[in-house]
Amino acid sequence: MSQDTPGSTATAAATSQQGDALENLLHEDRKFAPSADFAANAVVGAEVYAEADADRPAFWAKQARELLTWNKDFTQALDWSNPPFAKWFVGGQVNAAYNALDRHVENGLGDRVAIYFEGEPGDSRAYTYAELTEEVKKAANAFESLGVAKGDRVAVYLPMIPEAVITMLACARIGAVHSVVFGGFSSDALLSRIEDAQAKLVVTADGTYRRGKPSALKSAVDQALAADGHSVQNVVVVKRNGQDVDWHEGRDHWWADTVEAASPEHTAVGHDSEHPLFILYTSGTTGKPKGILHTTGGFLTQTAYTHKAVFDLHPETDVYWCTADIGWVTGHSYVAYAPLINGATQVMYEGTPDSPHQGRWWEIVEKYKVSILYTAPTAIRTFMKWGRDIPDKYDLSSLRVLGSVGEPINPEAWMWYRDVIGGNKAPIVDTWWQTETGAQMIAPLPGVTETKPGSAQVALPGIAVDVVDENGASVPNGHGGFLVIREPWPAMLRGIWGDPERFKETYWSRFETMYFAGDGAKKDEDGDIWLLGRVDDVMNISGHRLSTTEIESALVSHPAVAEAAVVGAADETTGQAVVAFVILRGDAVDSGDEIVQDLRNHVGKEIGPIAKPKIVLVVPELPKTRSGKIMRRLLKDVAEGRDTGDATTLADNTVMAQIAASLKK
Ligand code: PRX
Repeated sequence: MSQDTPGSTATAAATSQQGDALENLLHEDRKFAPSADFAANAVVGAEVYAEADADRPAFWAKQARELLTWNKDFTQALDWSNPPFAKWFVGGQVNAAYNALDRHVENGLGDRVAIYFEGEPGDSRAYTYAELTEEVKKAANAFESLGVAKGDRVAVYLPMIPEAVITMLACARIGAVHSVVFGGFSSDALLSRIEDAQAKLVVTADGTYRRGKPSALKSAVDQALAADGHSVQNVVVVKRNGQDVDWHEGRDHWWADTVEAASPEHTAVGHDSEHPLFILYTSGTTGKPKGILHTTGGFLTQTAYTHKAVFDLHPETDVYWCTADIGWVTGHSYVAYAPLINGATQVMYEGTPDSPHQGRWWEIVEKYKVSILYTAPTAIRTFMKWGRDIPDKYDLSSLRVLGSVGEPINPEAWMWYRDVIGGNKAPIVDTWWQTETGAQMIAPLPGVTETKPGSAQVALPGIAVDVVDENGASVPNGHGGFLVIREPWPAMLRGIWGDPERFKETYWSRFETMYFAGDGAKKDEDGDIWLLGRVDDVMNISGHRLSTTEIESALVSHPAVAEAAVVGAADETTGQAVVAFVILRGDAVDSGDEIVQDLRNHVGKEIGPIAKPKIVLVVPELPKTRSGKIMRRLLKDVAEGRDTGDATTLADNTVMAQIAASLKK
């Protein structure tokens, strides 16, 4: 296993290769200016850029005071005296749940729908702001009665159901720190996250529905907690699909018996602006996922501001739908927090886009008259494959802003999205950001920016993004390099849970005073930014982050595997797909399909089904440099069907020929 440091030769080669491949895109002539109508009614205008440039912390302080209700006002916008550890809105006290809920009710908006929930089997429920506030108060009381106090960690392992949002906000209300683990992760992955955060409580469900069939969740929690020695004292279980579950008396509690039965009276107190709000684990370049830590005031301010400005949110009339699962950062920032902070009405959908038919999403858009849709390029490319006649059957005329997130959107998908889904009128906002950035960083403003298909355009107001060369010098327009963030921003991660050294090392060591995002990017002739994908060992599969090293570790933990190397190879639909090259142990039998299936399932069990390699190739050798590093670049070439070209730095230059021969077999 190897770890290319950003900026190594392999990385530089990969960047230049991606750059070459995308070179033609940088001469994009198609441009789409906002219509006069849209611009006239836009929530923010072009003046915000100059205002933010004039005094960045003051700009954010103004947003913090306008968008949030503080229990105690802050005395300083930004404390950057101890970089890279930032403090925003110093001395302020604020409660996330109060801001998302109670204050809207106090302001007379109690009857506005907060969440329209659409279950996969076709059941639906709506929660008004008043109802959601009551549910969150009950959950806060229930969690407190189970011994959860301010600062304690709560693991959340739930499907896309309103109880997920209720749980997150209840934690935030009492100052407990939620750690949501994506429901598609395995029991092993869940346990490692529970242990790292030392979670006291787990909130889960009996199961959910996937493509019309019940799918279990609680069994994974039971498996994770089977052995003693963990930190979990209680498990709260939402009844969702009614399937049978094992029950651990004393530890397990039905949601109905605890939360539903709890008192609906609960007063929210202010928490320090820098009080931890949540931990969200994400893959890095090593085998161990990082617990990205976000705190309260800055996170809420930037998510709420960007949600309003980038989606041109008119909360009194818009119906917003973000299709991201709660297990990913988009489901945190732009489902659980920003829309509610902004008093918006949103749709939440439990299932897959093809259940029970491939028009399900468009049926939902028509049913709720969704006006702002936020989704990932993978989904758009899948719909393209299914054909336009499916969305064409539905009335999508309510859509007026279309968002994209998670991976670069290719111009063809961008144009299809605009034409077929947006009726050639809804502006597209391609939003670049990360789990670490907490909120959108690069995106057009729909009433201001003239957009180009495939470009995320420009840094948002108050955000200092740049593209730099190997030495950290800003590249001129027309050139590519590494994406960095030059100045602290409100929603920035405050660290890696329990590991401040790793925080510095991972993000702040490549370019001393700048945050290195791990992405390659180019500035076109107009200075607009084009994202070129990761330049480290992180893959992006369907907009989800996976680490090559993590999957390699899973593969070598299988008794038949001696060595493994994993690459993300370009894939038409999912952006990248996991391709694994494995060397079997001397005593293992290459049983062809059987071993391949076995290894795929093994990775599924260790990490989760999303990490299963699409292709597993059994090879006799792996290409290594003389210092023993695996040359993933060459494997990527093989996986993407390219000539591997120059392999002179290999310790054994016959290896590539051996691999080619074994693949022809
Ligand atoms: O490579 C970038 C890609 O997704 C990575 C962040 O992944 P994650 O933390 O899981 O967050 C995804 C949702 C915010 C980035 O380093 N990425 C995200 N958005 C875009 C993108 N790449 C290109 N264009 C985007 N709009």
